Amino acid sequence: MALNRDAIGKPIGPMKRDYTWKDAVLYALGVGAGFSELDYCYEKDLKVIPSFSIAMIFDFLSQAAIASGVNLAGILHGEQELIFHNPIPPEGTLITTGRIVDYFDKGKDKGALIVAESETVHSSGKKLFTNVITVFGRLDGGFGGKDRKKSPVDFPDRDPDFIVEAAPSPDQPLLYRLSGDIFHLHVDPEFARMAGFDMPIMHGLCTHGFACRALMASLVPGQPERVRRLACRFSKTLYPGVPIRTLIWKTADGKAVWRTVNAENGQVVIDNGEFEYGDIPKDEIRFDDRVAIVTGAGAGLGRTYALELARRGARVVVNDLGGSRDGAGGGSSSPADRVVEEIRAAGGEAVANYDSVATAEGGANIVKTALDAFGTVDILINNAGILRDKSFVKMSAEIWQAVLDVHLKGAYNVTRPAFAVMKEKGYGRIIMTTSAAGLYGNFGQTNYAAAKMGLVGLMNTLKLEGEKYGIKVNTVAPIAASRLTEDVMPPEMFAKSKPEFVAPLVLYLCSDRCPVSGNIYNAGMGFFNRAAVVTGPGKVLAKDDQLPTPETVMANLEAISDLTGAKIYHDLNAQVGDALIAFQAPAGKSPVEESKGFSSVPAVFDAMPGAFVAEAAAGVNAVFQYAIAGAGEWHCTIKEGTCTVAVGLHDSPTCTLKIADGDFLKMMNGQLPPMQAYTSGKLKIEGDIMKSQLIEKLFKLK
Ligand code: NAI
Repeated sequence: MALNRDAIGKPIGPMKRDYTWKDAVLYALGVGAGFSELDYCYEKDLKVIPSFSIAMIFDFLSQAAIASGVNLAGILHGEQELIFHNPIPPEGTLITTGRIVDYFDKGKDKGALIVAESETVHSSGKKLFTNVITVFGRLDGGFGGKDRKKSPVDFPDRDPDFIVEAAPSPDQPLLYRLSGDIFHLHVDPEFARMAGFDMPIMHGLCTHGFACRALMASLVPGQPERVRRLACRFSKTLYPGVPIRTLIWKTADGKAVWRTVNAENGQVVIDNGEFEYGDIPKDEIRFDDRVAIVTGAGAGLGRTYALELARRGARVVVNDLGGSRDGAGGGSSSPADRVVEEIRAAGGEAVANYDSVATAEGGANIVKTALDAFGTVDILINNAGILRDKSFVKMSAEIWQAVLDVHLKGAYNVTRPAFAVMKEKGYGRIIMTTSAAGLYGNFGQTNYAAAKMGLVGLMNTLKLEGEKYGIKVNTVAPIAASRLTEDVMPPEMFAKSKPEFVAPLVLYLCSDRCPVSGNIYNAGMGFFNRAAVVTGPGKVLAKDDQLPTPETVMANLEAISDLTGAKIYHDLNAQVGDALIAFQAPAGKSPVEESKGFSSVPAVFDAMPGAFVAEAAAGVNAVFQYAIAGAGEWHCTIKEGTCTVAVGLHDSPTCTLKIADGDFLKMMNGQLPPMQAYTSGKLKIEGDIMKSQLIEKLFKLK
């Protein structure tokens, strides 16, 4: 059976793998770690050996081999490359998506190479590693394909800088196989004999794990987070119990080459090894290997988003119908094509799509374009838009509907199929485009304002439905010079309002660094602020069973309308909860005064610096990292009697507190004692648990 050429580029996965610290420790033991490397073997402050990654996605290797149609009787794991983007956390879920990249023909009787790539993202949304495997199909050569000429790794002509001896136990494969590769060849003597071996052989990836440990011990001792790349070719099999030796040459700053040999006969068992190490490149927000759809990207804001995303590594679907400003008449492919050309000329990757967002088929086809070209969708910016302004009495049903169809229904049409892909893969970023006309009102734009505010409602609920799948949904109200605003904006403002001033916020919200979901931001001319639906504390007018009257409403309108102490609610339940509390509050007291509760996670962190008790912090230097499922990450730095709170992850927190957003709010509002949260497993603490106990003393939040 020939190799299946149709499989090239088709998505494999997403494949999910839950793991705990026990899996990481089992792997470490399987590749020879022990008491001398307790960091990899003990759940306290556990560090994960980077090569654990490949054991966790072993299924991808099988899936790629099966999809390629290679003759399974002749396959060998040829080459292996791992590129590390972030350290592997000790627990979580790994979501892996990949594809077959290409086939190479070594010639009849010489075999074929199947190259496949995958990306693995952690349930926290962080991209962890890229994997490139080359499967050697001994029985599939001579299919008439191209050959691959790859220059071998250049080994210096001198003694190695490091030689690391190791002695895998005769039983090593029995332990290693529990990490996922349970192929009989490594356990069943009879099977091994049938395959031409004297006994079961070592897993190549087990020796690879020994080599990874040797490289770390020599070049980045105790710092697996500094491993950036590990590549090699498997060249010979090895029997369990045979001692090995890993030879390492440093070749440049942060670079080394290596090979592992059979210490008994000198045969090279892993060759062409490359190892790169160093710190994670600093803080640039990148979209490498992300796939983005931008609707209405043929001009204006959408074009700028598409160009910027591609410049930072995203592969982009440039959708644009190429219609007129009011959406009347037909479309044209040239606006989308021009933007695709611009992206490609700058070295980026993009494809055009000319469908209208206003139809369900159009929406489905836009997402299909992304899947066909790039295999997935990570980012969707709902941006396409038209205007048909008329004062309300002149607003015909047709004009009303045309605007709703593009903006509101358009977002539904594209988001629904995109959301399904994101939900499956456990990651997504969605942007809605609203407008100040919707948020605050604008004469002559009832259709547009209604549609734009409808998008806020769509976001409010989608953010809840996406929460547990790592999908964040936010909304932007831009101000930018475009054909939509050329006759609306004063000329001086128009000149200063390049879409480039809006794009930075939109790109951040699309990135894996974005901690927020369900927020609305105004953005224009380099000015950014948050807009929100806020709710005042209100007043209970019903007394016992007595119904309030219009007159009591009239008499109390000021108190009902008062926004002092107003709140932003995370969802309907939080608001209803406060309404119930209001009924229980003694007459005359504002429910906010009474409950003094936090209604959102960000509100807690906003309040933290003000609640800091400097006297209690004498001699305390610590960074408390909070990972609040459903809300994001914050860290709080206590240093020399001061407290600063920032959004996001800190590089080296003293301890990390992990808790779901609802439980966190209960804890902060005094309804869940911290000790109970901890013992019930609702609160997990990693790192220095003792230091975490200071938190209660350091802050008087209630
Ligand atoms: P623009 O007119 O330059 O770009 C909109 C693009 O959407 C056009 O290229 C158009 O061909 C495309 N489009 C229209 N209908 C489509 C459909 N059915 N399917 C696919 N593509 C379609 O306008 P601009 O200013 O860049 O607007 C982008 C978004 O920002 C719109 O949603 C707009 O309502 C919103 N907005 C813009 C503001 C501004 O100051 N420019 C203010 C507030 C909101």
